[in-house]
Amino acid sequence: MSLTPQHPDPPAFLAAPTPTDPGAGGATPDELVLVLDFGAQYTQLIARRIRECRVYCEILPFDTPLDVIQKRNPVGLVFSGGPSSVYEPGAPQIAPAVYQMGLPILGICYGMQAMAHDLGGKVSAATLKEFGKTQLDVLDSTVLFEGLNPDLICWMSHGDTVEEPPPGFRVSAATENCPVAAMYDPDRRFYAVQFHPEVVHTPWGTEVIRGFLEKVCGTHGLWTMESFIEQQVTAIRRQVGDSQVVCGLSGGIDSCTVAALVHKAVGDQLTCIFVNHGLLRKGEAEDVQRRLAAAFHINLVYVDAEERFLKRLEGVTDPERKRKIIGEEFVRVFEEESCKLRDATFLAQGTLYPDVIESGTKSAAKIKTHHNVGGLPENMNLKLVEPLRFLFKDEVRAVAEELGLPTDMVWRQPFPGPGLAIRITGEVTKERLELLRASDWIVIDEIKRSGLYRKVWQSFAVLVPTKSVGVMGDQRTYAYPIVLRVVTSEDAMTADWARLPYEVLDRISSRIVNEVPGINRVVLDITSKPPATIEWE
Ligand code: XMP
Repeated sequence: MSLTPQHPDPPAFLAAPTPTDPGAGGATPDELVLVLDFGAQYTQLIARRIRECRVYCEILPFDTPLDVIQKRNPVGLVFSGGPSSVYEPGAPQIAPAVYQMGLPILGICYGMQAMAHDLGGKVSAATLKEFGKTQLDVLDSTVLFEGLNPDLICWMSHGDTVEEPPPGFRVSAATENCPVAAMYDPDRRFYAVQFHPEVVHTPWGTEVIRGFLEKVCGTHGLWTMESFIEQQVTAIRRQVGDSQVVCGLSGGIDSCTVAALVHKAVGDQLTCIFVNHGLLRKGEAEDVQRRLAAAFHINLVYVDAEERFLKRLEGVTDPERKRKIIGEEFVRVFEEESCKLRDATFLAQGTLYPDVIESGTKSAAKIKTHHNVGGLPENMNLKLVEPLRFLFKDEVRAVAEELGLPTDMVWRQPFPGPGLAIRITGEVTKERLELLRASDWIVIDEIKRSGLYRKVWQSFAVLVPTKSVGVMGDQRTYAYPIVLRVVTSEDAMTADWARLPYEVLDRISSRIVNEVPGINRVVLDITSKPPATIEWE
C-alpha cells in the first residue's frame, strides 16, 4: 500500500545558492562538477542526481566570478533551469569567458536557452508551451541518450524554446511542440536539454546526467561516503590541530554524525555537551548517552536543565515566544558549560547543505523561528567546524552508517530542537509533558510494529489542552484529546498526511485511551503542508 498520494507536480525546492567555500578545511574531492544556478525550483535536485552518480558537486550562483570557478578546478559545469526569459531585460547571463574555459557544459531548460542565446542560436516564446509529461523522440543517440529507448517520456516545464540551435550544434531530440528538445556540439563538449532530467517524472533522467558525467566529463564515480569520511578526517585534523573542540549533541542524526566524524579525526580533543531541556521523548536522554558512550567512548557532558527550562516556560502560550525562550536558554546553558572547558577553540555543528542553500534565500517569509543545537550563534568566540556543510540528509545517513552509528539512530525520524514544547499547544507543564510523552511513545511503538517507521517522514502525537467528555467503564471522563500527526515528505518543505491503514489507526487510538490516564480521545490530522506545517507550533 502506498502511503503517499500521487502528485501531479514534482515537489518544489528552495534553491537560492550562496557562494561558499569548500568544506571544512577546504577538502574538495578529485572530481568536482559545479552547477551554476539560474534560480530554478529544481537546482537542489540536479545536485542530488549528480551525487547519486558518485560525483561530488556544488551549487554556485550563475554569476560566480570566473577565477572562483577556475580555482575549484571542476571537470564540468551544469547550467540549471530558471524562471526568466533570455530576452527579458536583466535576465541572468553567464560571463562569455565561461564558454572559453574548455570545460564540458550541460544546459538544462533555461540553461539550454541561455547557451543557445549566448552562442548565436535563436530562442523565442513557444507557440505552445509545454508543462508536464511529454513524449520525447530521440533523433540522434548522442552520448546522452545512448542505450535508452528512443521513445521516452520526459518532464517539460517551459514557455520559451530554442528555435534554431547555434552554429556547430546538432539537434538530438524533439517533442511535438519543441523541435529542439536536446542539442549538442561534440567538438566543444556542450550539451543541452530542454526537459528536466533531474525530476522523478523523467524516470531515465539520471542516465542522461550519468552519460554527461561519465562519457563527456570523464568522471569515474570516485565520490563515496568512505572517501568523504577520509577527506573530512584529514580536513578536520588540519583545521583543528591540537585544539579542543566542543559539540552540542541533540541525539539527532546530524549532531551525532558530526560528533562521530570529529571524534574519528581528533579523538579525545572532542567534548560533547548534551543539554536535556526536559522536552525530550520518553527514554531519549538516557538512550543517547548510553549509546554514544557505548559506540564511541566520546567525552560527554550531560546537563540536566529541565527545571530551568520549565520555569522559563511557565505561563507562556505563544508559539514564537516558546521557541525564542527555548533557543535563548539553550544557548545560555551551552555557553555556561562550554566556558568550563577552558581550552575549547572550535565548535562542531551539524549544518547541512539545504541550510546553506536556504540561508541564501533573501525573500523567504519567516513561518517559524527554527531552533536547533546546530544553530548556536557564531559570536561564541569559537571557530566553526562544519563537516556536513555540503551534504544532503540522505548522504548524512550514509556517512553515519559508514561510521558505524547504530541503525535506529541513523534512521531516527527528525525531532525539532524545541522538542515536545511545540507539540503542546498552550502552556507547557510537567503534567502535560507526561501525557504527551506516554502517548507519543505508543504512536512510535505502533508505527514501528507496523513496519512504517522508515516509510513515513515523521509520526508523533500532539496534545491540545482542550478537554472533552467521554465515558470509560461506567464513568464520565473529562480529559484531553491527542492529535495523531503522521506525514510523508521528501525534505520537509512540503508534506502530505500519511494514509495509514485503519488497523494501525485503531490500535494507536485504543492503546492511547486505555494506557494513558488523562486522555480520552484520539483525533487524526489530515492536513498537508502547505497549507499546514508539520509541527503544530
Ligand atoms: P514545519 O513544522 O515547519 O517543520 O513544517 C518542518 C520540519 O522541521 C522540523 N522542525 C524543527 N527542527 N528545530 C529543528 O531542528 C526547530 O525549531 C524545528 N521546527 C520544526 C519539523 O519537525 C519538521 O521535520
